[in-house]
Amino acid sequence: METNTFDFLEKMERAGCTAFSEAKTLAEFRDLEVQFLGRKSELGLFLKSLALLPPEERHKVGKRANEAKRAITAASQSARARLSEASFDVKSEWIDVTDQPCSLPVGHLHILTTVENEIVDIFRSLGFDVADGPELETEFYNFDALNIPADHPARDMQDTFWIREDTRSSQDPQDHRSARLLLRTHTSPVQVRYMETHTPPFRIIVPGRIFRSEATDASHEHTFYQFESLFVDKSVSVGNFKYVAELFFSRFFGKRIGVRLRPSFFPFVEPGFEFDIACTVCDGKGCSSCHGTGWLEVGGAGMVHQSVFEAAGYERDRWSGFAWGFGTNRLAMMKYKIPDVRLFQSGDLRFLNQF
Ligand code: DAH
Repeated sequence: METNTFDFLEKMERAGCTAFSEAKTLAEFRDLEVQFLGRKSELGLFLKSLALLPPEERHKVGKRANEAKRAITAASQSARARLSEASFDVKSEWIDVTDQPCSLPVGHLHILTTVENEIVDIFRSLGFDVADGPELETEFYNFDALNIPADHPARDMQDTFWIREDTRSSQDPQDHRSARLLLRTHTSPVQVRYMETHTPPFRIIVPGRIFRSEATDASHEHTFYQFESLFVDKSVSVGNFKYVAELFFSRFFGKRIGVRLRPSFFPFVEPGFEFDIACTVCDGKGCSSCHGTGWLEVGGAGMVHQSVFEAAGYERDRWSGFAWGFGTNRLAMMKYKIPDVRLFQSGDLRFLNQF
């Protein structure tokens, strides 16, 4: 029985080694692997059956069987090396490092950022500095310092996202900066913040994001962008405002744009106005965009209220200035004929990729 077994192993080894050394393709090589070294190959099954032999015999036969397996494995390894080298095809593996790279999609600025940059550039060219303030604001800066006390009906004009209740201790009556926190409802609070640390004359603009707790529709959003502009000096007039506004809008729309003021009320200015620009679609003749009036409402403006100067720490009646604010979204909508304010934050690439 032993002689037969050794003969079998001898034959297996020879057959395996010869087959691998004669293999011509990688496919053939893979078949041979299964045939001679696989778990279900003759040798594989034989190795498994060793467990059935008595220990002494198992040791001797096992030793010889492992030798056969090692020899076939060595033959298979050299066959693999020989065949994979032969199958290397220079043409298909060739990489032209001077080839044009394929173009990858690249992002671009959001249309609101582009418009904001355009607006900033125009104001900069008119000598305005850019100022900034926090989006999480205190009740004091958003309302009180702008002459809008707690019981003032004007607070209702701007539905507010309140964030934190007043947590001040009652022993601290001097602390007029209420600890009540909110998401700023306009960029006007930056007027006061800036004036606290700067002395006139100065002119600034404040681009920024603002929040209103209100229902959304094609012309209302809960989160949008605004521009505040503030010009303070010794004898600033409404005429100065109208001149700067006309210059700004004419540059922004690339054609002469007239501005008109309508008396209005904002607690932080006196007198206060709403201002309109000549309709950019019909140039003031009257069309469906301006409901036949020839004018488009753009924002609010006025001469800075002396109480606001006072809240910022200035002496009353020492300075004069104009302040105005308008919506960046609204301006972008006018310039690029965007019909719905909600598109800006929709994340819809079909909309965003147009700009
Ligand atoms: N803060 C006002 C709002 O968001 C807009 C505004 C009106 C700003 C009049 C001003 C101003 O600077 O003078 O509705």
